[in-house]
Amino acid sequence: MKGALVCICLALFMALYGAEYVCNRDSNNEPDCTNASNLLVPIRNFYDPTRYWNCTSVSNMPASVGRCNGTGFDPTLMKCVNWTEWKWTPYCP
Ligand SMILES: *[C@@H]1O[C@H](CO)[C@@H](O)[C@H](O)[C@H]1NC(C)=O
Ligand SMILES: *[C@@H]1O[C@H](CO)[C@@H](O)[C@H](O)[C@H]1NC(C)=O
Ligand SMILES: *[C@@H]1O[C@H](CO)[C@@H](O)[C@H](O)[C@H]1NC(C)=O
Ligand SMILES: *[C@@H]1O[C@H](CO)[C@@H](O)[C@H](O)[C@H]1NC(C)=O
Repeated sequence: MKGALVCICLALFMALYGAEYVCNRDSNNEPDCTNASNLLVPIRNFYDPTRYWNCTSVSNMPASVGRCNGTGFDPTLMKCVNWTEWKWTPYCP
């Protein structure tokens, strides 16, 4: 009985995990690096505005973390900008 429940949960998790990108404001927004359209694209980290994700190869490897040196990551310009220019934008459109 318990085993069946674990099985159902696992199947559900895998179904969600394999699904297309859905913006989740409660996540850190780590991109799916198996998706070639994310390759070498700086992607906003929802947990830390001084860092961003950067898929360095199309693979199952986790995205590498880029750091803005003393600046903030602007998700619209997709680069690090001065804090004087940086402003918070909503995580999900
Ligand atoms: C790949 O990424 C692009 C851009 O984020 C997205 O539009 C597309 O749906 C993704 N494809 C898959 C199969 O997840
Ligand atoms: C992403 O990683 C590649 C390979 O390490 C590097 O050449 C590139 O500059 C990085 N892009 C950003 C925006 O940090
Ligand atoms: C960050 O920027 C400061 C000032 O521009 C510089 O002194 C420092 O070496 C930089 N650090 C890195 C890791 O690039
Ligand atoms: C960011 O601010 C520093 C001083 O805090 C200034 O020297 C630099 O030119 C600014 N960079 C941009 C892109 O505005």
